[in-house]
Formats: sequence, C-alpha cells, structure tokens
Amino acid sequence: MSDSIFITGAAGHLGGKVIEHLLSRGVSPGLIVAGSRDPAKLASVAARGIEVREADFDDLPGLTRSFAGAATVLIVSTDTLTPEGRRQRQHRNAVDAAVAAGARRLAYTSLPEPTASPLSFAADHVRTEEALAASGLPVILFRNGWYQENLFMGLPSALKSGHWCTAAADGKTSYAARDEIAEAIAVVLANPPAGGHTYTLTGSEAFSVPEIAALARNATGRPLEVVDVTDEQFVAGLGPAGLPDFLIPVLASMEVATRSGSLGIVTGDLAGLIGRTPKPLATFFAEQAGALSR
Ligand SMILES: NC(=O)c1ccc[n+]([C@@H]2O[C@H](COP(=O)([O-])OP(=O)(O)OC[C@H]3O[C@@H](n4cnc5c(N)ncnc54)[C@H](OP(=O)(O)O)[C@@H]3O)[C@@H](O)[C@H]2O)c1
Repeated sequence: MSDSIFITGAAGHLGGKVIEHLLSRGVSPGLIVAGSRDPAKLASVAARGIEVREADFDDLPGLTRSFAGAATVLIVSTDTLTPEGRRQRQHRNAVDAAVAAGARRLAYTSLPEPTASPLSFAADHVRTEEALAASGLPVILFRNGWYQENLFMGLPSALKSGHWCTAAADGKTSYAARDEIAEAIAVVLANPPAGGHTYTLTGSEAFSVPEIAALARNATGRPLEVVDVTDEQFVAGLGPAGLPDFLIPVLASMEVATRSGSLGIVTGDLAGLIGRTPKPLATFFAEQAGALSR
C-alpha cells in the first residue's frame, strides 16, 4: 500500500466527497482507506472496494494502528467544538498517530489565515498547523473558506421571519461549494506536490449580508430585510432559539469574523485546482431556493 491515502472523517460530508472525487480522478479504490469512528457508516464505501478502518482521534493507540501503511493521511478537522481544548488534543493525536504509523505526508483541513481569525475556534486550527509543522513531514494545508451549505444554518429561519439580524455590517464572505472544495482536495491528493504546500480554497467572489439577502430574495421570491444589530443584540437575539450554550459564542464570533473581513478572503486556488470558475453563490441559490425556504 505504498501510495495509499487515508481519509479521516470519511463518513462526513467533506471526507465522503473527497473519496468520490479521488475515484472519479482514477485513483484505484485499493489505494484509498476510509476512516470513521463507526465503520458501519462506511458500508457503501466498502462496497466499492475501499478498505474501511475505525479512526477515532480520541484513541491514540487505536488511531496509530489504523494509520499503519498509509503514505498520506488527510486529517479532516473534527466537528468537536466543546469542551475547549478537546479538538486540539484530537488533532494532535491524529498528527502523532500518523507520524508513529510511518506516514510520509500529512494533509489537513484548516481555515483561511487562522492566526488572524476572530473565530472562536481558530486556535484549534493554529495549534494543529503548529503540530503539523513540528512533525517534520511534508504538510499540505487546505485552508477552506466558508461552505455555501453553511447558509442552511440561519437563512431558512430568516426567510420564515422575513428578517436577517446581523452584526456583520458590510463584511463579506467568499462562500464556496463544499463539493468543489472536496474536488480540489482530491485533485491535490491524487497528484501531490513533492513537498508541502498551502492552498486557500475560497469562492471567486465575496458577498456582504445585504448582497446575500438580495440573492435570497431573488431566488425564493420571499421578503427578507437585513436588520443591523450590535454584537450584544445579536447574542440576545439567539436566546429564544434554544441553542446549546457552547454554540452562542461560536455564532457570535462568526459575525465578528465576517465584519473583520477574514471570511471574505478570495484566492484563485480553488478555481486553479478544479480548472473552472467555482460555483457562483447565485447558482447555489438557484439550486437550493426550495430547500432554503421550506
Ligand atoms: N469551512 C466550513 O465552512 C466548515 C463548516 C463546517 C465544518 N467545517 C469543518 O470541516 C470539517 C469537515 O466538514 P464536513 O462538512 O464534512 O463535516 P461533517 O459532515 O459534520 O463531518 C465531521 C466529521 O468529523 C469526524 N469526527 C468527529 N469526531 C471525530 C473523532 N473523535 N475522531 C475522528 N473523526 C471525528 C466525523 O467522523 P465520524 O463521525 O464518522 O467518526 C465526521 O466525518 C468539519 O468537521 C469541521 O471541522 C468547515
């Protein structure tokens, strides 16, 4: 298995799509290993001739065994946002396990300009990038911009109420389709560069909340008024939604990050890797108008 690629989080949206694109780029199923904490979730992947292994970043010895024989390990950042510090430990375990297992190259899904980011969880990515750099192995960083699919978090309820409360002011976001980010990752992993490399994978245009609201109005035919609020008012407005406590500072930090411009970075890396203009946000809206306004 000298050139094999281990994909963690393979049962998740991004990891699953990376595998799809590796296969469609002609990578043999025999060179791919798919990891999940629950391998049963990967039955359809296994049915395509891909080896499936348990991979839990909270279990360092088990993870080291799982990574055995993999030349490249793609560490997909976990969705663990609480308690503080756990995600950093998970990612450090993944780096340590890959090194101990003899991997020759590490890849990781990070965030654009993580050191400057006001996002509450940016430090997880900063610490992980540090651990990767300290590994001594070639490291491929995929600093992924905001998924278009993230709009499903708040937009449906905004469309229901007709109001989009935001503290982002005129800050912009360079949304990209998650599937195209996965495609770009697969392009790189199928033919990796000789050494390390950092890709910042963003959409080709950034939009402010009022601009996104206009796209949403056009696509759905629903009224949607943008209401500018302060950070404090934004947090207070989340109260009635009954969200888990840990999520409130996360969402508040997204507003601050948008306002600061750190989610609006635009690069040509995604377009360059997939060989076409990334899916415009207007196309996302045209495709998802029904689902967003349900
Ligand atoms: N750029 C963006 O806009 C954006 C948005 C949301 C999230 N993200 C980040 O990008 C990652 C991938 O996105 P996604 O859409 O594929 O998320 P997703 O569908 O929620 O997948 C999250 C993945 O994390 C894995 N995971 C959770 N805990 C783990 C653990 N202890 N050990 C190993 N794996 C673990 C899960 O694997 P199993 O459950 O199968 O073990 C799952 O595959 C997310 O996890 C998050 O870090 C980025």
